[in-house]
Amino acid sequence: MNQIQILARFAESFMNPPKWEAILKQSAKAMDMLLAGNGAGSEYLGWVNLPSGITNEELVRIEKTAERIRNQSEYLVVVGIGGSYLGARAVIESVCNPFDSYRTEKSKTKILYAGHHLDPDYHRDLLDFLAEKEFSVNVISKSGTTTEPAVAFRLLIDLLEKKYGKDGTKSRVIATTDSTKGALKKFSDEYGFETYVIPDDVGGRYSVLTPVGLIPIAVSGANIRALVSGAQAMQKVLTEEKDPSKNLACRYASLRNTLYLTGKKIEILVNYNPALHFVAEWWKQLYGESEGKGKKGIFPASVDLTTDLHSMGQYLQDGERTIFETVIRVETTKRDIELTARDGDVDGLNYLAGKSLSWVGSKATLGTLVAHTDGSVPCIEIVIPKLDEENIGALLYFFEFACGVSGYILGVNPFDQPGVEDYKNNMFALLGKKGYEDRKDDIEKKI
Ligand code: PA5
Repeated sequence: MNQIQILARFAESFMNPPKWEAILKQSAKAMDMLLAGNGAGSEYLGWVNLPSGITNEELVRIEKTAERIRNQSEYLVVVGIGGSYLGARAVIESVCNPFDSYRTEKSKTKILYAGHHLDPDYHRDLLDFLAEKEFSVNVISKSGTTTEPAVAFRLLIDLLEKKYGKDGTKSRVIATTDSTKGALKKFSDEYGFETYVIPDDVGGRYSVLTPVGLIPIAVSGANIRALVSGAQAMQKVLTEEKDPSKNLACRYASLRNTLYLTGKKIEILVNYNPALHFVAEWWKQLYGESEGKGKKGIFPASVDLTTDLHSMGQYLQDGERTIFETVIRVETTKRDIELTARDGDVDGLNYLAGKSLSWVGSKATLGTLVAHTDGSVPCIEIVIPKLDEENIGALLYFFEFACGVSGYILGVNPFDQPGVEDYKNNMFALLGKKGYEDRKDDIEKKI
């Protein structure tokens, strides 16, 4: 695997060098805290050594479960929200074929998603669609009590029982949850589903390399061993490089924090490959939930280019100058296409004849980088060699590690999410859940 690179050539001119130097030093301290486990939220640092800690036995078990699902089901419904589904979707959609329902040739099973919102139409359509199909469910919830996946699972298990009876249902549900706590754990134990454990010290948004991500990814036919090996290589690179100006995570974390201090409060993750759309969704959760607290934090947003240059391009070029970009550039394509010449050149494209689509795309990327920098938008570049499991594994682990470093530089606990509880508690109160009566009275006074 070639190394992922962080380039600052389109960001440097916006940086105050002494400030950047000082923040680079802070990033080294932040990394030490992360590795020594003596910073805020250190009880949730299990993800740091996940890549090197995964055993062959664990991978074999996941591969066997995936094979069983593939043999028995045309569809796997992944039920989860936030960190309990975004990592799997990010990997699956970045490496599998979109024109073959995001599967590899190894898998005939298509992955569907539920429990990531409460839209009745979506769930009604899903249930109608599945009524005549062979399907299994992987229900994923660390707390085991999150309402959206719990509701979707309730709907799906009713359908499973109608189709397959209780015994048949047992072998069609895989539950990924806490080792001891939560309603899903209790339900699984009583019913006898196959269960996988989310380690206590790994939070949802850092859980892609646990069974949370690995089971659905393995069902899609993507290579989980290559994914893990890419993450392992990145773990080694990041933990061994002590010079913060060379350490990729320190470099990225210090660049974004230095820009934040100059008033660039919004970071836009830019991709030029539709396959990376869900990597950006996963990244937004990772950084938003980790850093947006104590009334501070960079707001993470994303665009898919060149598509969004025709919707967001005007703002990016010329709107309020509070943004910076982090651009993911993929260096090589899996299969390139060459443009041909046409007699008459009616569409005026013969000047591109013989050029590859990747060459055309690279000029669009470069032209946009220069235009946006000229428009006072600093652009950090993350260059990845290609879109495959190994590089995606490395990229995801890099983002996780850099997020920990960045959160410590910012002075927050990057591993909790107290703000997410407020909406949940209000919803429970309004739904009439036992124990939330006082809160319900308070809310009703406000509406
Ligand atoms: O990162 C997190 O912890 C959250 O986004 C969770 O993943 C999300 O809220 C889902 O929680 P749970 O897995 O407990 O259902």
